[in-house]
Amino acid sequence: MKSPTITLPISASDVLDNRLPAAHVLNAEKTYGNADLIRVLEITGVAGPFRAVTPWEHEDARGIRRINAGGYAALPFGDRYPPLIEFVEAYLARSQSPGLPQQAASPWRAALEQNLVSLLARFAPSHSDSRVFFSNSGAEAIETAIKFARMARPKAARIINFTGAYHGKTYAPLSLTPNAEYQDPFRPLMPGIVTVPYGDLRAFAKAVRSNGPDRIAAVFIEPVQGEAGVIIPPEGYLKGIGDICRKHGIIIVADEIQTGLGRCGEWFASIADGLEPDVIALAKPLGGGLTPIGATIARREIFGKMLAGMSCKRHSNTFGGNSLSMAVGLKSLELLVEDNLPERSRILGERGLARLTKLRDSYPKLIEAVRGRGMLMALQFRPVSPVHIPFADELIGEFSGVLALRMLHAYGVQANLSLSSKRVVRLTPALNIPEDLFDTIFERIDRAAAKNPNAPSMLTSTPPDILVNLTKFALAPHG
Ligand SMILES: Cc1ncc(COP(=O)(O)O)c(C=O)c1O
Repeated sequence: MKSPTITLPISASDVLDNRLPAAHVLNAEKTYGNADLIRVLEITGVAGPFRAVTPWEHEDARGIRRINAGGYAALPFGDRYPPLIEFVEAYLARSQSPGLPQQAASPWRAALEQNLVSLLARFAPSHSDSRVFFSNSGAEAIETAIKFARMARPKAARIINFTGAYHGKTYAPLSLTPNAEYQDPFRPLMPGIVTVPYGDLRAFAKAVRSNGPDRIAAVFIEPVQGEAGVIIPPEGYLKGIGDICRKHGIIIVADEIQTGLGRCGEWFASIADGLEPDVIALAKPLGGGLTPIGATIARREIFGKMLAGMSCKRHSNTFGGNSLSMAVGLKSLELLVEDNLPERSRILGERGLARLTKLRDSYPKLIEAVRGRGMLMALQFRPVSPVHIPFADELIGEFSGVLALRMLHAYGVQANLSLSSKRVVRLTPALNIPEDLFDTIFERIDRAAAKNPNAPSMLTSTPPDILVNLTKFALAPHG
């Protein structure tokens, strides 16, 4: 029997040639995808879809252009950066490497492995013989690190993490992401997690003592906590953590997925602050804003405990090390090096933080605090409710962040919410953003703040129908 002819509703060319109207895109997303995410973005007025008109600016369907300071720190060059696009076009036209070289050596993977280790060894020479394992996301890079740590210290089943930490949302990384909203429905999580207050060295030392150093496999730490709202630990803290771990052989895993490769003004923020990790997890910027990629770099002896001899397939994945991602990663690293983007990030970031500090001083009733390291910057907004309402803190916090995001969007700046800190909006512009556009970000925030000089005015200036919809959305049972 002849099988029936199948006609798919939308062709790939429809999308490529912009034949899918914005309304169709939104409806399809709300019907077939993560509907409530799109719904809340739509209510807030930030749902797009957007078109990248320059690497650093997006335009919506109405032709309104905004500076992209969002992208969750995964856009080191913005969107469609010509040198990267040209390289990918050349790769597609000329590379003859198989796309998924799982059971063979690959020049693309080999090159990125060598370059990553050589880059890391430049700052931490003891890593000159380390090895890299590739995966497809930040969470997977952490998953790999967890398994490395457990196998390297088989008798130690505990792992130390920190309050406010964010290491991803797949199961094992979620266990290291202490956020009740994300964790609670999935308990029991991975056992043996000891959560210690971030930034408190004495608390860390005490936790190591009371749990017994021999029972602790590893500590997982972000040198700056991004999703917690750009929390920068006190000076000497990271080095102190390193000293304690080194004394007891506890494995130090630096999660540099957000901070690494220039975002915080350094190649490796942890190393710059005196911590020499045994394992480093990288992801976001390595994909150049184009391809998913995770990389876990581990000391040779740690790597060898899990992946040795016939057990070299003990940890594996289908797509990790795929040639396209490796090519993009290789070129991204090269562009970061050629343009010395970590240093640019440090210099521009200092300027940005000075601008933010001025904004906080000018609008103290709107902005509670500002923080920044390199081009990872945060604005912590005050609660939109003028009075404290018991039991409503969470909701007010949520509204404050979402309305701040909406306000910045209305004034031409796309920003990021913070996944583990509701009232914090982060700015993560491309590391190569032209200086005039970078400065314009702060001019636009200034204009937005001048119109809304206190946090409740973000609420009162929001059209009532939007507030009603947002409230209904927040209070409705979902699922
Ligand atoms: C520090 C850190 N670790 C891990 C992750 C998880 O990465 P992914 O979203 O690619 O799984 C993130 C993502 O924001 C992150 O910021």
